[in-house]
Amino acid sequence: MTKRSALDLIDDWLATGFKSARLPEGQPREADSPGAPLGARRRAADPARQAALDAVAREVAGCSRCQLSLNRTRTVAGEGSIDPPVLFVGEGPGEEEDRTGRPFVGAAGRYLDKWIAAAGLDRRACFIANCVKCRPPQNREPHPDEIGACLPYLERQIAALAPRAIVCLGRIASQALLGTSTGVGALRGKVHDRRGIPLLATYHPSAVLSDQGLRAPVWEDLKRLKGLLRDA
Ligand code: URA
Ligand code: SF4
Repeated sequence: MTKRSALDLIDDWLATGFKSARLPEGQPREADSPGAPLGARRRAADPARQAALDAVAREVAGCSRCQLSLNRTRTVAGEGSIDPPVLFVGEGPGEEEDRTGRPFVGAAGRYLDKWIAAAGLDRRACFIANCVKCRPPQNREPHPDEIGACLPYLERQIAALAPRAIVCLGRIASQALLGTSTGVGALRGKVHDRRGIPLLATYHPSAVLSDQGLRAPVWEDLKRLKGLLRDA
């Protein structure tokens, strides 16, 4: 399959639905850089960054800095490569995540996996985390004080990972990391500079699952991400 037809397939899938969405097995994701998917590792495993990430996960596991600790089953610190091209940041764990301790493994996560593939990336090569590491009851939005209590963990993850780009999924993550109350619709569509790291804001996969009209802008954002990584 040519690059063009692969992109058309993904575009069509993002525009019209996802039932037929399958990246061809065994095909290079990047026809113009065969053998090197976007986000190939840049350097060997770094024990210091692994230790920093492990320390965050350990502290999170025992954390009671906010009331979300009261109802959680498991904490969800985040997971992925310690040398990621992209850090994806969501809102907070949902039911599946609370049960498994892993980020984005429910319906929104399966959808996010397709976005990551559409951007030419491998989920395992990226890092995925959330603004709050414990599930808000009934999946309500995390409160500002809860986000404030939890954000230092995410900041430490960002510092340890030094990703080439950050993608904020939805309003909560976008506003938290950009320190603004501007809506995600106005924040998306451009590259922000967050303390030297390029940051893209886009819609949350759950929002896009329930609003088809958001698929086209998300596709634009994924193409922007792809271009950003290619140019970097
Ligand atoms: N939604 C999120 O924001 N994060 C997850 O980990 C899962 C669903
Ligand atoms: Fe601690 Fe964050 Fe969980 Fe609150 S959400 S208890 S700050 S880990």
